Amino acid sequence: MPEKKQEDLNRVGPKSPMGKLMRQYWIPALLSSEIEPDGPPLRVKLLGEELIAFRTASGRIGLMDHRCPHRCASLFFGRNEEEGIRCVYHGWKYDPDGQCVDQPSEPPEYVFKPKVQATAYATCERAGLVWAFMGPKGESLPELPYIEATGLPEDEIQVWAALRECNWLQGLEGDIDTSHFGFLHIGSATEDQAAPGSSTLYAIKDRAPRYKVEDTPFGTTYGAYRPGDEGMNYWRIAHFLFPFWTMPPGSPMERQMIARAWVPMDDEHTMFYHISRAGSGPSRNRIAGRQIAGLGAEIERLPNTNDWYGRWRLACNRDNDYMMDRHVQSTESYTGILGGHVQDQMITESMGPVTDWTRERLGSSDQMIIQTRRRILRALDEFRTDGTVPPGAADPKVYDRVRSGTLMLPLDADWVREIENIRRKLQTERQ
Ligand code: FES
Ligand SMILES: [Fe+2]
Repeated sequence: MPEKKQEDLNRVGPKSPMGKLMRQYWIPALLSSEIEPDGPPLRVKLLGEELIAFRTASGRIGLMDHRCPHRCASLFFGRNEEEGIRCVYHGWKYDPDGQCVDQPSEPPEYVFKPKVQATAYATCERAGLVWAFMGPKGESLPELPYIEATGLPEDEIQVWAALRECNWLQGLEGDIDTSHFGFLHIGSATEDQAAPGSSTLYAIKDRAPRYKVEDTPFGTTYGAYRPGDEGMNYWRIAHFLFPFWTMPPGSPMERQMIARAWVPMDDEHTMFYHISRAGSGPSRNRIAGRQIAGLGAEIERLPNTNDWYGRWRLACNRDNDYMMDRHVQSTESYTGILGGHVQDQMITESMGPVTDWTRERLGSSDQMIIQTRRRILRALDEFRTDGTVPPGAADPKVYDRVRSGTLMLPLDADWVREIENIRRKLQTERQ
C-alpha cells in the first residue's frame, strides 16, 4: 500500500482526512467515573486535540480545548465553580458549552463575553462512558451507535480502559488478526491441556485456520474456520465496525456481548475501551486447572497521573519489557508475559508507534487486515470526494444486534446466512 494511503489512515488530527471522517461519529472520550461533580478537570487527548473534561456540581459535563480563549493559558489549572470553569490567569469563566460567562478583568463598559467562545464539544453518557461529538456543528447531533454491549444495564456491564502506545489502526488490527491467537496467546498449549469443547482446543488442533472475509454495511467481518466436531466446522466470527470498533470472537455468539473501541488520542497513542457483558468473556480456556497464562489475568495498572498520557497505563509496559519472564517463556507460556491484553499490547507496541507498511509481507491469514484497510480507504475516498457519509455515522442501526463469537456449523453451512439468522433472531427477541 502506498505510503500516502497509510498516512491517510493513520493520521487523525482535525485537518487530516481520517480525522475529519472520525469526527462524524460519537467517540468514547473518557470513563464517566473519571470526573466528579465539582471535581478537578481532567486532561484528555482526543484525535490529536488537547482537551479538558470537567463535571459541574449539577452534573453537566464540559469537554473543551484546554487553552483559554483569552491568552491561551491552560484551563486544566482552572477552578471548577458554579456550573463553569474559571481560568485562573485573569478569571474569565466558561460554561460547559464553552460560552464565556464572566470577564472580571475587563472594566464593565468593555466586557465582550458574548463574543468569546471556547472550543467545546457536545457530550453524552452511556455505558459508563462519556461520549463526545467533535464534528461540525450541524442542525442536530446523530444518535449514538446501536452497539449492543453499550446498551447493557449498569449492573451487567463491564467497562475498562487501557492506554496503547501506538497508532489506533495498528492496535485495532491486532484485534482482527485471529491467527495470532494460536501463537501469541496459547502457543505453548497442547491438546491434552485444553478443556473439551473449549475454543482453545480447536485453536490448538489447527493453528492455521482458513478465512472468509466480507464487507458489511457496518464495516468488515471475518469467519475463521477449522475442523470442529464430527461433520462440523468450528468458526470464530469477528467484526470491524466504523470508525474504530472491533468485536472479537471468544465465547459462543449466543451469549457473547462485547465491543472494543480503539480511540485515537493522537497519531501515536490510543485509548482502548473494552465494553462487555460481565461474565460473557472467554470461558473454559483453562489448562491444567488454571487460566491459560494470558487469557484472563487481571490487568495491573499504574496510578493515573495528570499527564496527557497518564491515564490507564499498564504496570507491565515497554519500560520494563512488559515484565517478561524468560524462564516462564521456556517452560510454560509462549511469551513469558502474563495477560492476553498485555501480550497484545507488547506485540503491537513492539511494531513501533506507527509501523511502516512498506516493510510488511502479508499472507493469506492477513486477509481481514487487508480488506479492512481497503474498506476504510474506500469510505475515506468517498467522504473526501463527494461528502458521502461514512458507514454508520448517520445510521446507527447498522450496528444493531451485530455480535461476534464462536459457532459450530455443518461443513456445508453458509456462514454469512447463519450469522444473519442469529442477528435477526436477536432483533425479534428484543421487540
Ligand atoms: S488567559 Fe485565561 S483569563 Fe486570561
Ligand atoms: Fe490477541
